[in-house]
Amino acid sequence: ISLKAYNTFGIDVNASFFAEVRSKDDILEALKFAKTKKVPILILGGGSNVLFTEELYALVLKINITGIKEIKSDDKTVLIEVGSGVIWHEFVLYSLEKGLSGIENLSLIPGTVGAAPMQNIGAYGVEIKAVFQSLEAIEISTGLTKTFLASEVKFGYRESVFKTSLKGKYIIYKVSFNLSKVHAPNISYGDIQTVLDQMDQATATAKNISKAIISIRQSKLPDPKVIGNAGSFFKNPVIPVDVFDNLKLKFPTLPGYPNATHVKVPAAWLIENAGWKGKQVGEVGVHKRQPLVLVNYGNGKGEEILALSRQIQTEVHAKFGISLEREVNVVNSKNLIQV
Ligand code: EPU
Repeated sequence: ISLKAYNTFGIDVNASFFAEVRSKDDILEALKFAKTKKVPILILGGGSNVLFTEELYALVLKINITGIKEIKSDDKTVLIEVGSGVIWHEFVLYSLEKGLSGIENLSLIPGTVGAAPMQNIGAYGVEIKAVFQSLEAIEISTGLTKTFLASEVKFGYRESVFKTSLKGKYIIYKVSFNLSKVHAPNISYGDIQTVLDQMDQATATAKNISKAIISIRQSKLPDPKVIGNAGSFFKNPVIPVDVFDNLKLKFPTLPGYPNATHVKVPAAWLIENAGWKGKQVGEVGVHKRQPLVLVNYGNGKGEEILALSRQIQTEVHAKFGISLEREVNVVNSKNLIQV
């Protein structure tokens, strides 16, 4: 089966087996099949953070576990349980309809609820970490279920334990969130306030913030339905203060967002200033408004995007001495989950 429709880069590779799972039991059944047939597996949510670089001898588990359920509530917060296959933005819309807040800044992020904690999705000053309560997952080797609390997920910038020590070990089927009945707007990031003003929606309600963020994202980021992409291809590098200060002498316009010991530098700036913004190489390229996003204009291959990304990494390193780390997961036959 072709995976073209199941990844937002629109890469056309084939996988040997494919199962759409709608429940925990479906997952267990699919795992049994994989173990009996000795076929490695690949877990797929929205396919919005993967790059396929070759044909895959694998069983693809497309997670389609739905359902949004209110578990309990007091006068300030509501605990909500969400199936891992729910589209993230649909959950955001649900929260806005219910008058809840906490995830409005995460509007329009592609992908599913189950994939969200894996990379601690974040945008416009908010990370999922802030509203996360717990998640439930199946251990692939044993089929047993386990609940993970926030402390066990070990959230970092675009990081969690599911990308490090527990990579390929669990399948998330449910995530619980604490959303707020009392709105505390977070509009410190970039141009949110300006956009609210322009939209004549100066009251920063959750719905208005969501509208503003949707319009910012639509103006900068390519729509994967139109041009294949997986959002930011790289992470924003974090460098020591002294390294930043030295670079700043040579590149006075280099932006930086400091914390106590380090400075986060926008990868978009580095890529633009290495001359790559808007460049096209065959069927693939660097987006013209947000150079952190690599794009597939049509029939590009995963290998071509990977080669382009490596060239960018080399040139950014040569010019600035900074290594760009990939944010997108490259999937090939060597890094599938062996069962
Ligand atoms: N910039 C440039 N040239 C450009 C665009 C941006 O130099 O053409 C520089 C500017 O200095 C700008 C800065 O980059 O101020 C930051 O740009 P932007 O606000 O667009 O955000 P970003 O740091 O590039 C991150 C996330 C995005 C998220 C936005 C908004 C990462 C890897 N990416 O991008 O997340 O939407 O902030 O919060 O942290 C994603 O993960 O897929 C994603 C899209």
